[in-house]
Amino acid sequence: MIETITGLDALRERVRGWKREGLRVGFVPTMGNLHAGHYSLVMLARQYADRVVSSVFVNPTQFGPSEDFTRYPRTPAADTAGLEGAGCDVLWLPTVESMYPFGVELASKVHVPGVSAVLEGECRPGHFDGVCTVVSRLFNQVQPDLAAFGKKDYQQLAVIRQLVADLQFPIEIIGGGIVREADGLAMSSRNQYLGPDQRPRAAAIHRALRDMRQAHLDGAPRAVVEAQARAQLEAVGFAVDYAALRRPDLSGPDDGEAGPRVALVAARLGTTRLIDNLEF
Ligand code: PAF
Repeated sequence: MIETITGLDALRERVRGWKREGLRVGFVPTMGNLHAGHYSLVMLARQYADRVVSSVFVNPTQFGPSEDFTRYPRTPAADTAGLEGAGCDVLWLPTVESMYPFGVELASKVHVPGVSAVLEGECRPGHFDGVCTVVSRLFNQVQPDLAAFGKKDYQQLAVIRQLVADLQFPIEIIGGGIVREADGLAMSSRNQYLGPDQRPRAAAIHRALRDMRQAHLDGAPRAVVEAQARAQLEAVGFAVDYAALRRPDLSGPDDGEAGPRVALVAARLGTTRLIDNLEF
């Protein structure tokens, strides 16, 4: 039976008790409105930990002024039932006031330079500062041995890895694979914003990523790979923020250079912004 905890003292007491018993604690932070992608992270954490805590907190500091913070879907009953089904032991539900005791304006901020600055960092200024600020707080609150993050947010995972290495959190970070709908669309809480005419077109992102992989393997220069993906997405009505071919550390590879790659797309269909990526 899942236990819902809303007070920090109670959370710390529960986790301290587990640690006294020598149990390993896993953590899956979320913003709620959970889907199979989140539940796969809980199950992944469960493989490496004896107990799993998951948090649901819609973090105001990672949304830009024109973004969807107020309309972000909140589905607490379904989330609780789903987390229990996935094997989560504790649902941690902080409030905005407990997360930011001095208020959002006076909150101490965590900024991870470098990897935060590109791609999403260019399109959503301050977003990763908000993510790192809340994740640092969540790590201090839960004090897990390991934490699982989804690879759909490829750059977020890279930023979190740097945060943990740099601030020396004693937490192992594990990345969970992208869970997709039957047509390839990566699962996301934002998919439900898509209208019936938009939803079938959204699968074009995954097709564009696969085509980027093929074009790269066929020897196309990076600029061509990226321009083709952009045109392909624009043709079905997307406004493209970026279609990028990168090294795993998100730096730009030279043409003809061997090695692993990640293709990343962020694109908007109407007011819905979707991101996805493919590693190869
Ligand atoms: O990936 C998310 O849902 C959020 O960015 C996270 C990690 C829960 C921080 O608010």
